[in-house]
Amino acid sequence: MQQTVHLTRPDDWHLHLRDGALLRQVAAVSARQFSRALAMPNLKPPLIRVEQALAYRQRILDSLPRGNGFSPYLSVYLTDKTPLQEVSVAAECPYVLGFKLYPAGATTHSGAGVTGLDKIYPILEAMEEHDLVLQVHGEVTDPEIDIFDREKVFIERELIPVVARFPRLRIVLEHITTQEGVDFVRGAPETVAGTLTPQHLLYNRNMLLTGGIRPHYYCLPVLKRETHRQALLSAAISGNPKFFLGTDSAPHLRQHKETDCGCAGCFSAPAALELYAEAFDQAGALDKLEAFASFHGADFYRLPRNSGKIVLRRSEWTMPTSYGGEAGEIVPLRAGETLRWRLSSYPEKP
Ligand code: NCD
Ligand code: ZN
Repeated sequence: MQQTVHLTRPDDWHLHLRDGALLRQVAAVSARQFSRALAMPNLKPPLIRVEQALAYRQRILDSLPRGNGFSPYLSVYLTDKTPLQEVSVAAECPYVLGFKLYPAGATTHSGAGVTGLDKIYPILEAMEEHDLVLQVHGEVTDPEIDIFDREKVFIERELIPVVARFPRLRIVLEHITTQEGVDFVRGAPETVAGTLTPQHLLYNRNMLLTGGIRPHYYCLPVLKRETHRQALLSAAISGNPKFFLGTDSAPHLRQHKETDCGCAGCFSAPAALELYAEAFDQAGALDKLEAFASFHGADFYRLPRNSGKIVLRRSEWTMPTSYGGEAGEIVPLRAGETLRWRLSSYPEKP
């Protein structure tokens, strides 16, 4: 049985780092695992200007020990009123990789998002010109549509027409959760890619209701049925460069998860790589982990691949029941349970 996995340092292409005390509490957890990350702009208030995104980048760096080596990248939050000139401003900034489309009301802090894609067509055209990437939360917000169908319907109603209308626009369908999402990305032109989270590779929707209601497994898009999980896993291990790592680690304080109307988001950052390793291992595909975690995303974003190495070891450990700190208590994914892989900080001596 394989005991170690050596990887080029990986990147997280979809991460919520929050702000203020919570940022200071969680940033180092991701920086320990990843070399770079695409930090999401759904703060309160959202980062709707490049200037705000760059100031946030500095706050992320300030929250980490000096010389830590972690490099955050940003996506700017699209609204119905995003000014056209913001696109050329973004194109000048190497740390801004694109703009994030949150359909208004689709998820946490998306209230200022886009109410109709036609409203941002001029922006999409400018992004296509400037070769900026559109990061997409792919769910319709129509309350008539069943929550388990919202990704599929978004692809049919919104994404397919956008890809047809803007054939050179590079798009990442983030946190894909369905067979339809996988099929769409696979069948789309090379301009379209997708990220996959550890929770959607490891769990199906039963997890939300196993022995009781499990708020720490609740995220958006919500976990789907087992056939979808299998489709996601086969995409992840396929070696297809269109699929890459984006944890969507989304910390919320315990009291905001364990309540009448709890927030969506799983805090997977403390063991993100270990969770992916578990999923790939279960599928007998540990040899495919490095490209998924360390190459495909960098290649899609046209950034150099990282040079350092990390090592994962087959070794059991228990996830703490919570991560305390300045902002409060956060319950991680798999709290109090056994993990099968463990990240060592430094490569083994040959
Ligand atoms: C994210 C958050 O909490 O910011 N929540 C989640 O369930 N994934 C927002 C998002 O990415 O949808
Ligand atoms: Zn997210």
